[in-house]
Amino acid sequence: MVIKPMIRNNICLNANPDGCAANVREQIEYARKKLKKSANAPKLALVAGCSNGYGLASRICAGFGYGAATVGLSFENEPSEKRSGTPGYYNNSAFDEQAAKDGIISVTLNGDAYSPVIKSKTIEAVREAALRAGIPAKIDLFIYSLASPVRTDPKTGVMYKSVIKPIGASFKGKTLNIMDGTFGTTEIGSASEEEIFNTVKVMGGEDWQLWMDALDNEGFLCAQTRAAAFTYIGPESSWAIYKNGTIGKAKDDLQRACREIDSKFTQQKKIYGAWISVNKALVTRSSAVIPTIALYITCLYKVMKEMNLHEGCVEQIARLYSDRLYTADGKVPVDSENRIRIDDMEMRDDVQKAVEIKMKNITQENIFTETDIAGVKHDFLQAHGFSPDDIG
Ligand SMILES: NC(=O)c1ccc[n+]([C@@H]2O[C@H](COP(=O)([O-])OP(=O)(O)OC[C@H]3O[C@@H](n4cnc5c(N)ncnc54)[C@H](O)[C@@H]3O)[C@@H](O)[C@H]2O)c1
Repeated sequence: MVIKPMIRNNICLNANPDGCAANVREQIEYARKKLKKSANAPKLALVAGCSNGYGLASRICAGFGYGAATVGLSFENEPSEKRSGTPGYYNNSAFDEQAAKDGIISVTLNGDAYSPVIKSKTIEAVREAALRAGIPAKIDLFIYSLASPVRTDPKTGVMYKSVIKPIGASFKGKTLNIMDGTFGTTEIGSASEEEIFNTVKVMGGEDWQLWMDALDNEGFLCAQTRAAAFTYIGPESSWAIYKNGTIGKAKDDLQRACREIDSKFTQQKKIYGAWISVNKALVTRSSAVIPTIALYITCLYKVMKEMNLHEGCVEQIARLYSDRLYTADGKVPVDSENRIRIDDMEMRDDVQKAVEIKMKNITQENIFTETDIAGVKHDFLQAHGFSPDDIG
């Protein structure tokens, strides 16, 4: 059956199972070639947000790059008679299928990572994965890669919704429809105190800390445990909507949580360390809906591809593991704020200068020649198992 993508406002409403599986296999091939098993490589990894984007790449690199048993957790829709499943559902299936073929242990859970029920189920899944792998139930890698619009506080039962809004002043900017290359404008009002608070509740670090405590209570942490969560900084032109906006406040809180996790558990020698990794801007299901980011990414892709510096999620994560978390001497290179920087190439002066000039000169006439909108459209469709040929 031919499936065509259904797209509204940079959101794709369906997915193609075969295309999703092909995308997963491609990343698996890369991870296999790029990463080599070593003495300190992870043996049992837990990935929250394993089905898409950075979390999927994190699980693939741990499983197929290092041969680790993996427990993956995400929140996806199964297919029904009326609707296709979400891409992550098919990605997880493809991951599990290939892992079974290769004798790599994988246990996959579908449910709300914020809920105590799923935390308990995950704990059982970790025990199961360790048993099947014949190794102790010690998680030596925990990747926390959730991107969610809502969270219910497990203590109060109150549901919070996150928003992407500026703080202090409204924001007006150019938007780009990545499917047809047309520009629009958007004006987003400044967030209220309540909206800031709610966004921090959803995308901040509270839940990561609850996870670490839950894993500690089960005795799952060990001297080799590396824990990491992801953030984005980007150029000043994006700060009003990202770094200095509601999502940036949540990411500040993620960093606070990271410091607390690191000092609490490393002092007790219960983990190797906890880090925030600053990653590159890439087209994923979550980032495509951030206003004005699409235009920046089309320029960034063009510049980085021309300079031979472009990376996707799997290339980023392979480098996070090989050159940061699992270096030969065990040292983890960080910046002055103890953050891992795999956005280093994106943030290079020459890259940023070239992107800045490009962004100033983009018009409706030259969008297809001066930016990599074709590459961005390709990646966006690929994240749902489609290709540009499927549109017609
Ligand atoms: N995409 C980027 O450009 C970029 C750049 C830097 C940092 N990051 C960060 O990386 C992280 C992952 O982002 P992404 O772009 O890969 O997102 P994504 O949308 O591709 O994946 C999000 C994952 O979270 C899971 N998820 C969402 N709500 C859940 C819930 N309640 N319970 C369980 N799982 C849930 C989804 O199932 C999916 O697996 C985020 O913290 C994001 O801020 C993204």
